[in-house]
Amino acid sequence: MIHYTIEGGRPLSGTVSISGAKNAALAIIPAAVLVRGTYRLDNVPNVHDVCILIDLLRAMGVTVKKINNNCYEFNSDSADCCNVPYELARRIRASYYLVGACLGRFGKADVAMPGGCDFGVRPIDQHLKGFQALGATCDVRGGAIIAECAGQLTGSTVYLDNASVGATINIMLAAALAEGTTVIEAAGKEPHIVDLANFLNFCGAEIRGAGTDVIKIHGKKELYARDYAIIPDQIEAGTYMAAAAATGGEITLLNVIPKHLECISVKLLEMGVEIEEGDDTLTVRRDGETPLTATSIKTMPYPGFPTDMHPQMGALLTIAEGTSMIAERVWENRFRYVNELRRMGADVKIDGRVAVIEGVKRLSGAPVQACDLRAGAAAVIAGLAAWGTTTVTDVFQIERGYEDLVGKLQALGANIQRAEEPEEPTLTVVTA
Ligand code: EPZ
Repeated sequence: MIHYTIEGGRPLSGTVSISGAKNAALAIIPAAVLVRGTYRLDNVPNVHDVCILIDLLRAMGVTVKKINNNCYEFNSDSADCCNVPYELARRIRASYYLVGACLGRFGKADVAMPGGCDFGVRPIDQHLKGFQALGATCDVRGGAIIAECAGQLTGSTVYLDNASVGATINIMLAAALAEGTTVIEAAGKEPHIVDLANFLNFCGAEIRGAGTDVIKIHGKKELYARDYAIIPDQIEAGTYMAAAAATGGEITLLNVIPKHLECISVKLLEMGVEIEEGDDTLTVRRDGETPLTATSIKTMPYPGFPTDMHPQMGALLTIAEGTSMIAERVWENRFRYVNELRRMGADVKIDGRVAVIEGVKRLSGAPVQACDLRAGAAAVIAGLAAWGTTTVTDVFQIERGYEDLVGKLQALGANIQRAEEPEEPTLTVVTA
């Protein structure tokens, strides 16, 4: 079992290069199914969820060559939609993008219901609503999403009930090769949605309005391969920003888009942290003597405060002077990180979907668990700031979405080690 051991209390300092955006890569990689010819995708983050998605494409007959840890070459000319391995697809959330891509290219799809972080119920009704609006019949049978359209998908208008990132991406994938025009009303506006639209337009698609709440997709007959590079990861960047603030250090992030980080920067400024923006860099500074100030956060779809930064900011607020609140407006069960922080002395109460955080002087190291991807990041941030030793287990959760977190933190001066412990011996009960 792999775990991290952290000796806390050391201010982070230096520079860290931000990897490509996981959630953009997970949307753009399935789009390979729609594109004719060979092309390279660069700045792909080297994380588990991306590796699983690439294995799924290979199983479908897509030729995927690994050029290096962050660059892949795709060719889908001989792909088919009839073999998406169930056990592999159910391990990640983004496998469901293969439904939109296969419907768009082949007019049918059979993909396991998705996995992903357990925040409670994660419905897909808006995805199915979009596919049905385009003329597909959809069913969930035997644990899989079965979708089919006799003939070509036909463009239509879809009014989303909420600004679902996944549904916006999935409908865009299905509509790119559909007959006629599709309009997505109340669409998600996240940077990774815009990145997917940019990639598809590079390949000859005609998508207008990505990044606003109305996206128009004029379907095309064919899309042709063009090389592309993924945008930087706003949540990875935000995680390092929170870690620097928590440890009272000064770090500069390289390869970022400051505009994507504005909602995080604003909150850190409210807490007394200094932020300096460059064209593609951002410096975060807080001297350890200046106490952090409590603040309040409401998570919202972009450009609001991202839910994927809630646990990390929760960890930071546990050592801010005063009472802070975090209202979670996207996921009902985003609070799994709280119990682990309580083990370290954090004073957090949950009232419905609001975390009420009373700042304490210092956290103390403890054995904690990564309950999901961002809860794991929160545990690491708390360990970096705490007195003493923190061990974080179940770190596979963290490594699903963070490239080389340990190496990047070590380069910033953190005392963090990644170790593999022999599996606990299984107790065999011998009956007389
Ligand atoms: C994406 O999940 C991200 N995952 C999540 O990031 C992120 O938390 C989420 O968007 C919100 O930003 C990936 O991109 C792989 P949604 P997704 O559809 O698409 C409701 C991480 O940490 N909803 O925008 O599943 C849903 O219940 C991960 O990187 C429906 O009701 O999120 C939720 O309340 C964790 N019906 C809200 O919309 C649907 O059909 C937002 O969900 C779909 C969603």
